[in-house]
Amino acid sequence: MAGRVVILGAPGAGKGTQARRMAKKHGWPHISTGDIFRSHVEHKTAIGQKIESFMHSGQLVPDTLACQIVVERLAEPDCARGYILDGFPRSVPQALALDTMLADRHEALDTVVLLTIDDEELIGRLAARRTCPHCGKIYNLTFNPPKIAGQCDKPECDGALLVHRDDDQEDTVRRRLKVYHETTEPLIQHYKKRRGLLERVDGGASPDAIAEQIEGILKRRGAE
Ligand code: AP5
Ligand code: MG
Ligand code: ZN
Repeated sequence: MAGRVVILGAPGAGKGTQARRMAKKHGWPHISTGDIFRSHVEHKTAIGQKIESFMHSGQLVPDTLACQIVVERLAEPDCARGYILDGFPRSVPQALALDTMLADRHEALDTVVLLTIDDEELIGRLAARRTCPHCGKIYNLTFNPPKIAGQCDKPECDGALLVHRDDDQEDTVRRRLKVYHETTEPLIQHYKKRRGLLERVDGGASPDAIAEQIEGILKRRGAE
């Protein structure tokens, strides 16, 4: 069955962690605009050069660019059976653009999952986050450390060295949180109004408990 899910929440709320699990379980592509943008920066593409300073300072990249990469990604064949949008939309203009994209595709979202959590907890989580640049696996030095310090433990990654994102310094995280509260939080109302699409999940629970709750929501809404 198809499933079209938006996962919403502050920086460090656990969007990527849960989206990866859902993608693995259901086979829907995990579309993280942050991951796509980081890849552009890493490969020094023309888009990467335009957005690097926004990302580095914790600001949003311009809406038109974010919408452009999502339209292009959704046009790929693997999105026909559904997708998980992580980090998009994150402003009202982006949400309106997504409404248009969905209408053009004759599709509707099944649900918007909002992971809720306190700002202070997020700062600690992001200070301790490490990610594998090879497979994208997300670790946490406190809650979910790798088996060998500093290295990805997936056999296919062959000990790839884990990285700390350059926007995870405390000052930048505080800027990202401010942007979240000012620009992204209004989407909560936007999705509450749209057929009650919004489902709140306590992002402070364990990753397993959160995943279980999300699966319950998907089942109830007929997306599995
Ligand atoms: P993006 O990459 O989307 O970053 P973000 O929204 O700030 O969110 P994060 O990826 O930091 O956190 P997450 O919620 O995925 O948490 P995670 O699962 O990793 O965007 C980065 C930048 O790109 C933006 O600032 C902007 O510049 C640009 N951008 C991206 N999209 C854009 C758009 N649409 N428009 C404009 N600009 C855009 O978990 C965090 C940590 O917590 C990990 O260590 C994890 O192991 C741990 N953890 C996860 N769950 C739990 C749990 N339940 N309990 C304990 N620890 C947990
Ligand atoms: Mg993420
Ligand atoms: Zn890896």
